Amino acid sequence: MKRASKLMGTVALGLLTAVSAQAEDVEVLHWWTSGGEAAALNVLKEDLQGQDIGWNDMPVAGGGGEAAMTTLRARVTAGNPPTAVQMLGFDIQDWAAEGALGNLNDVAAAEGWDAVVPAALQAFAKYDGNWISAPVNVHSTNWVWANKAVLDELGLGVPSTWEEFVAAMQAAKDAGKVGLAHGGQAWQEATMFDGVVLSAGGPDFYKKAFIDLDPEALGSDTMVEAFKRMETLRSYVDDNFSGRDWNLASAMVINGEAAFQIMGDWAKGEFLNAGKVPDQDFLCFRVPGSEGVVTFNSDQFAMFNVSEEGAKAAQAAMAASIMAPSFQSAFNVVKGSVPARTDVPQDDFDACGKKGMDQLAEAAANGTLLGSMAHGHANRAGVKNAIYDVVTAHFNGEFSAEEAAEELVNAVETAM
Ligand code: GAL
Repeated sequence: MKRASKLMGTVALGLLTAVSAQAEDVEVLHWWTSGGEAAALNVLKEDLQGQDIGWNDMPVAGGGGEAAMTTLRARVTAGNPPTAVQMLGFDIQDWAAEGALGNLNDVAAAEGWDAVVPAALQAFAKYDGNWISAPVNVHSTNWVWANKAVLDELGLGVPSTWEEFVAAMQAAKDAGKVGLAHGGQAWQEATMFDGVVLSAGGPDFYKKAFIDLDPEALGSDTMVEAFKRMETLRSYVDDNFSGRDWNLASAMVINGEAAFQIMGDWAKGEFLNAGKVPDQDFLCFRVPGSEGVVTFNSDQFAMFNVSEEGAKAAQAAMAASIMAPSFQSAFNVVKGSVPARTDVPQDDFDACGKKGMDQLAEAAANGTLLGSMAHGHANRAGVKNAIYDVVTAHFNGEFSAEEAAEELVNAVETAM
């Protein structure tokens, strides 16, 4: 059934679905609009097209997905939810709590998801013990991306401490390069803050501050130090950073205008899309001081409640496709993320992908796999947005580091 048929009366619809529960087209709301993201999305589109499931694209640009979530709310309020929606962490749980999501237990049981999806992801993909979304990947935010030729020219290796990292940005700046490529949007500043808070305080501190929302941690000297590190980063950003999209900041590293970008591993998708090769053209390493910790976010496709059998069949087919091991490999190789299941071979992944897979497994085993604050895996949207506001205001010079830590305590308390 195509969209136009939704206008038909219920009788005709009943007849049609009685004849066959042929999968409909899927309408997919997502924010994958950069070059690398679109290339990854194509892997999914083509996979579904191979099964005769058509694709109605509903892109809502804006990294981190805030704009997409606003559009989603309007669609659901109007009684017209899309079939499947790209979603992060606590947003999935919130929609489930509203009773808006469908149930994927049948396909999950048939395909054995319980045994292969890491527990940290199941915590978001299940609600009340029922599968409500299909995890397509695991990204992580505490990465740095570097132009290798720029570092070679400056005689620099991979910095292993925060101080070395600062010295490297200074050397790049002295040589007329931009030290740190950055786009001035709240979610991008928050993404850097994930790694910076880890580098300043370590995993236990990150957990106390962003997951437990402990006011003492939020207002501590360690948090003041994290804000001071943000000020240091701010001093290596170029003058035109305001409002710049993240993929344009990646492009500055790709073309050698800038030395580094702190960004989640979706940035790798941009490097690959530009034909660049890890270790040869670019380097990937953890924010210095955050090694051994992985702040993760998992893109999942949440399936909304739909009544037509054809739409349900399309949701089940899409969920099964997403979770197939071969798809998880093909998709994540392009996207920059790593698979959302533990049994996918590393063979097709590049050096950064293999590193990401190993580090994810190690962090899960060591208790240092922590949900990304910036990407909705540490707390609900209200708290996340409150943290965004303080981090971005401070980055833009509205508060000193000491004031920012105080503001953080107040903002989180109000949002809780
Ligand atoms: C993240 C998402 C990634 C990537 C990024 C930038 O929230 O998990 O898949 O799309 O935003 O758009």
